[in-house]
Amino acid sequence: MSIIRAEHVTYIYPDGTDALQDISLEIYAGDTLGIIGCSGSGKSTLLRALAGLIIPAGKIQILGRQLDHSSRKSLFRESAVVMQNPEDQLLGYDIARESTFGLNYYAPQKNKRLQLIEKYLKIFSLDDIKEKKSSELSFGEQKKLCLTIALSQERKLLFLDEPTMGLAAGERRSLIQLIKDMTNTRIIASNDLNFVLDLCKNIFLLHEGKLITAGRAHEILADKELMEKYGLEVPLNLLLYQSIYV
Ligand SMILES: Nc1ncnc2c1ncn2[C@@H]1O[C@H](COP(=O)(O)OP(=O)(O)OP(=O)(O)O)[C@@H](O)[C@H]1O
Ligand SMILES: [Mg+2]
Repeated sequence: MSIIRAEHVTYIYPDGTDALQDISLEIYAGDTLGIIGCSGSGKSTLLRALAGLIIPAGKIQILGRQLDHSSRKSLFRESAVVMQNPEDQLLGYDIARESTFGLNYYAPQKNKRLQLIEKYLKIFSLDDIKEKKSSELSFGEQKKLCLTIALSQERKLLFLDEPTMGLAAGERRSLIQLIKDMTNTRIIASNDLNFVLDLCKNIFLLHEGKLITAGRAHEILADKELMEKYGLEVPLNLLLYQSIYV
């Protein structure tokens, strides 16, 4: 079942940058979908558009509703987002307050949520520095705090922009496992192609704001000519797998 359907989505920034050009796509419920492409190709802009953070031209139908300025409020209650730059979403409070912010206003299953927050803070080694302000954390710590907040919300849709940026190898591995254990629909924009390979069944390849191709992650990521044409490389893990098994 399709959970997101975009038709002719186009977005031009106020300075005239054509960031998304006539993009049509479909995302299915329960999928882990990767958005790849070289830097500046439009990954973050597409993710923000699908999450309702910006409203592009064209049509986006999401969770059965047409996305616009008024309907996006209900989308915000059914989705969680990790933005590429944590400072764009953190409020500057200490970790304890930041991670539980809003729980008194809108928090179905508040106790479960609190347990999950504790669990993720521990996994990401933030539990011992809970009194520290988010504005004083390192980039990687800020990213882990954003991941804690988003993952603990257990929403139908999870949008992750460069989720592994700033994470150490062990933390990255923990994140892969956490995402693998989820059953919601996950949309991941990432330059970490090994991460995308590990998690995503399907991917969209963007270039200069255009959707170049969509399909199976293993097929697109293994296509050396295609990857190099668009400034990417076949991920190392796939090359290793091919050298052993193919
Ligand atoms: N606020 C903005 N104002 C003007 N142009 C922008 C703005 N944000 C992004 N752009 C431009 O839009 C295009 C797409 O940017 P976007 O951030 O979506 O790319 P990306 O694929 O996520 O890149 P990266 O891999 O570096 O994160 C780029 O040309 C970028 O310069
Ligand atoms: Mg980006």
